[in-house]
Amino acid sequence: MNAMPGVVWITGAGSGLGRALAQRYLAAGGAVAGTSRRTETLSNLALAAAGQPGCFHVQAGDLTKAGCADTLVDAIERTAGPIRLAVLNAGTHIPDSAEQFSAATVASLLETNVMSVAYCLEALLPRMLSRGQGQIAINASLAGYRGLPRAAAYGASKAALINMAESLRIELEPRGVTMRLINPGFVRTPLTDRNDFPMPFLMEVETAAEQLYQALEHGSAFEIVFPRRFACILKVLRLLPYALYLPLMRKLIR
Ligand SMILES: NC(=O)c1ccc[n+]([C@@H]2O[C@H](COP(=O)([O-])OP(=O)(O)OC[C@H]3O[C@@H](n4cnc5c(N)ncnc54)[C@H](OP(=O)(O)O)[C@@H]3O)[C@@H](O)[C@H]2O)c1
Repeated sequence: MNAMPGVVWITGAGSGLGRALAQRYLAAGGAVAGTSRRTETLSNLALAAAGQPGCFHVQAGDLTKAGCADTLVDAIERTAGPIRLAVLNAGTHIPDSAEQFSAATVASLLETNVMSVAYCLEALLPRMLSRGQGQIAINASLAGYRGLPRAAAYGASKAALINMAESLRIELEPRGVTMRLINPGFVRTPLTDRNDFPMPFLMEVETAAEQLYQALEHGSAFEIVFPRRFACILKVLRLLPYALYLPLMRKLIR
């Protein structure tokens, strides 16, 4: 049964935020297409989805490979129906530092976080534009607002996504396709479980997924942020001139 017409495609549905969001949509009776590279995590999710009111379609694929997104979108739309909402969430984090700066890390994060989204957009936009409807939500990060210590590569990849989403929002709005931008703070997932530093305002993944679900289904604002208090602090930091921002950040990491 699909209580909500149209398919919701969630990339990176195998774990973390993507998985929790897929479960929230399934509980609401939605038709969900979940993709990521590992088939075993998707199969686990499919098993858990069996008792839910919604229906779940699983497709595995590596979104950094050209052509993969197009194949996935084609298969989803043929088997499940038109994608009404795509949550481009797949991504990863590799910490870095000035001492161990590596171009390979930058390339890897740009491939996984930015190029995967670009391939998905290339596959989705012609279809949504020809239908004159659809919603795409790109998962960036509050870390994309400004340069943060030990995140030169990750922050650059997320800043690129923020810019890309802003640009496309302006162009797509009059054509019936809605671009949304998701900027989370710290959420407890396998990705943040690897962090060895204090994470202010760390949020549980179910709470984050609930807020994201409500914003996607019932909100219309371009940017979706959580947790709100952490986002407010980073929004203020974003407004500071370099003469204040850079010394303040240096003090914070001492
Ligand atoms: N957790 C946070 O605090 C936080 C904060 C800000 C932003 N974010 C963003 O939120 C998104 C989800 O993060 P998460 O915390 O939920 O991390 P996660 O638990 O590690 O989930 C990442 C998902 O992406 C998939 N993925 C990774 N590389 C892929 C590829 N090349 N092709 C297809 N799928 C791929 C992974 O599955 P496979 O490995 O099986 O492919 C996994 O399902 C990321 O974009 C992250 O940057 C997270």
